[in-house]
Amino acid sequence: MKIVEIPARKLDAKAFIREKVQEISDRVGDGTAITALSGGVDSAVVTKLGHMALGNRLKTYFINNGLMRKDEPQTVVRLFRRAGIRVEVLEAQKAFFDALKGLRDPEAKREAITQTFYKKIFGQLVKSSGARFLLQGTILTDVEETVAGVKRQHNVLAQLGIDPQEAFGYRILEPVLQLRKDGVRKLAKALDLPVSVYKRMPFPGPALAARVIGEVTPERVELVRVATAIVESELRNVKAFQYMAILHEDQFAGMRDGKRDFGRQIEVRCWSSVDARTAKPVWLPRRELQRLAGRLTREVPGVVSVTYNIAAKPPSTLEAV
Ligand code: XMP
Repeated sequence: MKIVEIPARKLDAKAFIREKVQEISDRVGDGTAITALSGGVDSAVVTKLGHMALGNRLKTYFINNGLMRKDEPQTVVRLFRRAGIRVEVLEAQKAFFDALKGLRDPEAKREAITQTFYKKIFGQLVKSSGARFLLQGTILTDVEETVAGVKRQHNVLAQLGIDPQEAFGYRILEPVLQLRKDGVRKLAKALDLPVSVYKRMPFPGPALAARVIGEVTPERVELVRVATAIVESELRNVKAFQYMAILHEDQFAGMRDGKRDFGRQIEVRCWSSVDARTAKPVWLPRRELQRLAGRLTREVPGVVSVTYNIAAKPPSTLEAV
């Protein structure tokens, strides 16, 4: 079925909210549903809509997959507590790292994360909670990129011919499927979500695994986590759609303390975009680039090389994996 886009400028946020709250309410009936926050704005909006429709018949989880940014679980729980929504943190690091073990191919890594989320983690949650529905924040750009074969967004199923009821034993509701990122932000504002939620930059479902080239191990994720915290703190005042650090796997000759140090490379990306369909690099001031290079080589163990991506999307994509 073709999804009819609602462009942000045509979105009547209040009417859309009313309609979606009613829809969720009608579909779930007197049952229960679950939702998982990822730290991004899409899942935040969907959680709020679900909460308005179902109250405490919606169980909200933060799946700690071991691939999240520094302090992410605590930050998300705190932000939502302020909005009156209780979030339960589910520790699932081992399941994800076991599934990712030995995988290097980008699509294979994405597929492993999808299977772990939907089959293993949500499968168990649905069984233990008795919920028959999962609410999730898939947006139109996710679907288009997956269907076009650009990359498999971890939250796209039905559009790939996967029936979640058959495959995993529950139904998936996607209230913001007709929107893009700018529309979701407009909705977040209308929903009175804290500014820190709706101004948060996008963060991908596969989390930091989308920023590790080659095998995703706890050690390599920790390196990119440290680099991400540095990039996010250095660039927080830059006007950009999204910025990130990527860990490469090639080794580079470098020197430290007068000796050869065969080390690592971090790539920095900082994007200007409206809806993630196309994007251009932000031309960061030289001083900013110098500060990033200094901190990344000093503070991320073994890093001897820092690059800045100057290609646009297309042909690049925002995330490296
Ligand atoms: P790309 O890398 O495809 O990213 O140019 C476009 C936007 O989507 C985010 N992204 C994802 N979001 N699940 C998501 O929910 C995913 O699997 C996923 N992969 C990429 C990315 O961060 C960017 O904002």
